[in-house]
Amino acid sequence: MKRPQIIQGGMGAGVSDWRLARAVSSKGQMGVVSGTALDLILARRLQIGDPGGHMRRGLEAFPDSEISRHILDRYFNPNGKPSDRPFIGKPMAGHTRNRHLDELLLAANFVEVFLAKEGHDGTVGINFLNKIQSPLLPSLYGAMLAGVDVVLVGAGIPLEIPPILDSFSRGEPAELKLHVQKTASGREHKVSFNPNEILANAPAFLQRPLFFPIVSSASLAALLIRRCKGQVDGLIVERPSAGGHNAPPRGHGKLSSDGEPLYGPRDVVDLEAISSHGLPFWLAGSCGTPEELMRARDAGAVGVQVGTLFAFCEDSGLREDLKRNVIERCRRELPRVFTDPVASPTGFPFKVLSVSGTLSDSAVYRKRHRQCDLGYLREPFEKSDGTIGWRCPAEEPETYARKGGNPRDSVGRKCLCNALAANIGLGQIRVSGEGRPLLT
Ligand SMILES: Cc1cc2nc3c(=O)[nH]c(=O)nc-3n(C[C@H](O)[C@H](O)[C@H](O)COP(=O)(O)O)c2cc1C
Repeated sequence: MKRPQIIQGGMGAGVSDWRLARAVSSKGQMGVVSGTALDLILARRLQIGDPGGHMRRGLEAFPDSEISRHILDRYFNPNGKPSDRPFIGKPMAGHTRNRHLDELLLAANFVEVFLAKEGHDGTVGINFLNKIQSPLLPSLYGAMLAGVDVVLVGAGIPLEIPPILDSFSRGEPAELKLHVQKTASGREHKVSFNPNEILANAPAFLQRPLFFPIVSSASLAALLIRRCKGQVDGLIVERPSAGGHNAPPRGHGKLSSDGEPLYGPRDVVDLEAISSHGLPFWLAGSCGTPEELMRARDAGAVGVQVGTLFAFCEDSGLREDLKRNVIERCRRELPRVFTDPVASPTGFPFKVLSVSGTLSDSAVYRKRHRQCDLGYLREPFEKSDGTIGWRCPAEEPETYARKGGNPRDSVGRKCLCNALAANIGLGQIRVSGEGRPLLT
């Protein structure tokens, strides 16, 4: 693979969609589609009538036409659903396999990568969050079926991904250990996926994509390289100024007087230590200028990974009105960006851009009914009978507490799943109106 100087960072959900990734990859740099919630995005794009016919073109290319047909039968609405009617639901991912959901995940990840790779021979990556475990296996496989070149994984320590890529490339099943809270029984819980059980003719061999974990420190990079049971091919070194989720500060949990996590000298990444592994690496976090690219290269990086600039460019999946609002505001003043330590149910700090009418607005936030109906950021926990339950700190606090969640953990949490769907114009319609966005 030709090493790009610029990687357009994966931005979920649907902000770095196939269109943006294709635009970047066609220019000889690396476009990355977000692999987050693609099952939801495909199901909803089909329900609004699949403008342009791109989803249907991708499904046409999917190697199992029976699966494509199931999905079209269930979700495609040729007239587009009325704008005041809710989207029909799709199953939430859990610890047991659901055939329909597996098919949807496979096809959705295939379609997004297929479209991003269409009409050029540039490099295309896909980004996943390590925290979102249960849909990961069929998602990875679907992306590999479409020939994805690089898998990039952030938000966690993705030790298990390389062996999964190796198994899938040999046409074998794979499994992933579920990070279940409170495993009093000491049992290990796993999810598994066997492509041969789902696909009519699963290929015996698939190209093994390169694997680039996203790290925030030299020690995490060293740990990954040492402990991964498979190859790490490159590193994205992300600094705390990056858009989206950030690693928590190292060493202490203190907040600034404004309530933001306090990053200090210990959070400055030791780039010499990173270089010493001999792997190509890219710097991320406020690197979107020619000067920062030069600085990164001087420090030994191959180049930079950039998110925010791409999120607000014409080709991104972000809703046009939100983009315009932010760009116009940037012309007048620097908008306030708050590193919110609790907004994200993942527990990672999350950069929130203050925009009125979005969930960053406390009046809007207070009005929202807390309901978990997408469930990507739910966490599995072990119940007293040893079975697994799922809960999200952004769901209704009483429900969360009833499931054994600590009520303190639900304070200030925002439903990112629904907000991110609203960011790309696919928000659910409820009695109270359309779901509200939240910008990063
Ligand atoms: C809107 C948005 C969504 C993002 N979503 C993800 C994501 O889903 N997964 C991920 O690993 N990084 C995500 N990021 C981080 C970017 O991939 C990239 O590393 C970061 O934006 C680089 O910093 P910059 O925003 O200063 O350019 C997101 C960033 C933005 C702006």
